[in-house]
Amino acid sequence: MCGIVGYIGTEEAAPVLLDGLDKLEYRGYDSAGIAVFDGEKIQVAKARGRLKVLNEMTHGGEKLPGNCGIGHTRWATHGIPSDKNAHPHFNETESIAVVHNGIIENYLKLKKLLQEKGYKFTSETDTEVVAHLLDYYYKGDPLEAIIRTMRRVDGSYALGIMFQEHPGKLFAVRKDSPLIAGKGKNGNLIASDVPAVLKYTRDVYFIQNEEIVCLEADELNFYNIDGEPIRKEAVTIQWDVSAAEKAGYEHFMLKEIYEQPKAVLDTLNPRIREGRIEIEELGMSDDEIRAIKKIYIVACGSAYHTGVSAKYVFEGLARIPVEVDLASEFRYRNPILDPETLLIVVSQSGETADTLAALREAKQRGVRTLGIVNVVGSSIAREADNVMYTWAGPEIAVATTKAYSTQLIAEYLLAMKFAQVKGTVSTAEMDEMIQELKQLPVHIEMLLDHKEKIQRFANRYIAAKDIFFIGRGIDYAISLEGSLKLKEISYIHSEAYPAGELKHGTISLIEEGTLVAAVLTQEELYKKMISNMVEVKTRGAFLLAVTNVGNTEVEKAADYVIYIPKTHKYFTNSLAVIPLQLFGYYVALGKGCDVDKPRNLAKSVTVE
Ligand code: F6R
Repeated sequence: MCGIVGYIGTEEAAPVLLDGLDKLEYRGYDSAGIAVFDGEKIQVAKARGRLKVLNEMTHGGEKLPGNCGIGHTRWATHGIPSDKNAHPHFNETESIAVVHNGIIENYLKLKKLLQEKGYKFTSETDTEVVAHLLDYYYKGDPLEAIIRTMRRVDGSYALGIMFQEHPGKLFAVRKDSPLIAGKGKNGNLIASDVPAVLKYTRDVYFIQNEEIVCLEADELNFYNIDGEPIRKEAVTIQWDVSAAEKAGYEHFMLKEIYEQPKAVLDTLNPRIREGRIEIEELGMSDDEIRAIKKIYIVACGSAYHTGVSAKYVFEGLARIPVEVDLASEFRYRNPILDPETLLIVVSQSGETADTLAALREAKQRGVRTLGIVNVVGSSIAREADNVMYTWAGPEIAVATTKAYSTQLIAEYLLAMKFAQVKGTVSTAEMDEMIQELKQLPVHIEMLLDHKEKIQRFANRYIAAKDIFFIGRGIDYAISLEGSLKLKEISYIHSEAYPAGELKHGTISLIEEGTLVAAVLTQEELYKKMISNMVEVKTRGAFLLAVTNVGNTEVEKAADYVIYIPKTHKYFTNSLAVIPLQLFGYYVALGKGCDVDKPRNLAKSVTVE
């Protein structure tokens, strides 16, 4: 939620800030703003709406000269999206400018205290409290003011701060919201995420909780919350700049859909060695694996959907009971956790507030934790006892595709590793599964070749009001994701249902022509699925079926069929989800929706 950037150096700051914000717009896009310091005066420009409004308003930054600045792209939490609530925010004399990502939880109390001392507020945001508090504590030493402010505010924050009395310096600080600093040739930068600085540098510092960085044009100094200098090592980012750009695709989402064969391969390859599953990062001995009696998989949204699928795989292969929980529910329901439990949290960003809180809750209660995470160095990656990275590369589109696919792979590998250690699967079946896993990228590639067929079908449904997805077992997990992909970007109401459950209420919504997408990849449930399809068909539904190649019998019940290549029954999700991602994408495209930045959403959900 929200993206922050900052630059200080020898170049004009405004274009660098606007360029960085462009890379961060996936984090929030209801308003944007920049403040630029020319050494004498801090000038500000902010505007409701997309970044392009700000870009036009400032003539690409030309209107705000100066070599030091901060910028922000907003996903509103406190206060409606408006010019007034857009960041940067200031103290009354406009000598201290602040951009903020996160939430100041005690802002009402602090606001009241500050108002009693005569401070006047001009916005409805929690952030403005920080600007006034900095002013209150500022007695000439910016570091001291920042530290005293940090000690008063509760909640999460990554802040970029400029003081008019200190030209040539830019400050940033974090607690529970992501922040990096980059060391460039012509200046130094801060940002919420790596893509914003990649054009200028690959050498980045991951700022940890309660650390402060002071940037000057040619140096970076780091401090802890006691103001003591600390040493930090830069990490060299290996990805190519093009990984964070569209590379000729119309949308990031389509590009990322197409990157799935590679992402899957990159996640698989390092973990299959000489016909065995090897997951060194797991950090568990065979005895420790055997001692695990229960697994929780905890996550949000699509990451949660991968857990729903993985439950079948873990239970089927390793014979360990698995509970799958939404992080926002898990953390408040006092779950039964004991030392023989393993908690797996799954997160692309590694910053999702609820997932992070669930992880902390489990750790506090002495449970072993494993993070399946995409963003290297993110909070969940750092705080989990062990981390297994999904090597999907940067995912920019708000609707996840390649991260989802790699999360599935990580979970299959884990389930297979547990089965290998526990001896619950024969060597022959393990060999067969490994062969099938290796084939997945090729199969995904084949499915992508049929995109025009799916686009034609999708174009028929751009005016649909309701679409239902049904499936049983793993096919229900696939339906959950197919339904979310469609609704979040096309704004068409959609629900996923276990196919047998429909007749207990929801079937009353089926009318003449309602599209029902039936997923039937599980051979043992195939006949039951056909019966459920017939139930909705006789009530007027138009039926799309996604099934394994060879299941031609489905054509008697379905009006339109998409065949997926045959694979092991536990891996069908990886294939069936591809046409459903494309379906969601093309419906949204046909409707003219903003595919990469759907309304009301943001990529990284760092609020509860
Ligand atoms: C949907 C989507 C979200 C995320 C969810 C968790 O397309 O992307 O549902 O899966 O917000 O995010 P992470 O994986 O970053 O924890």
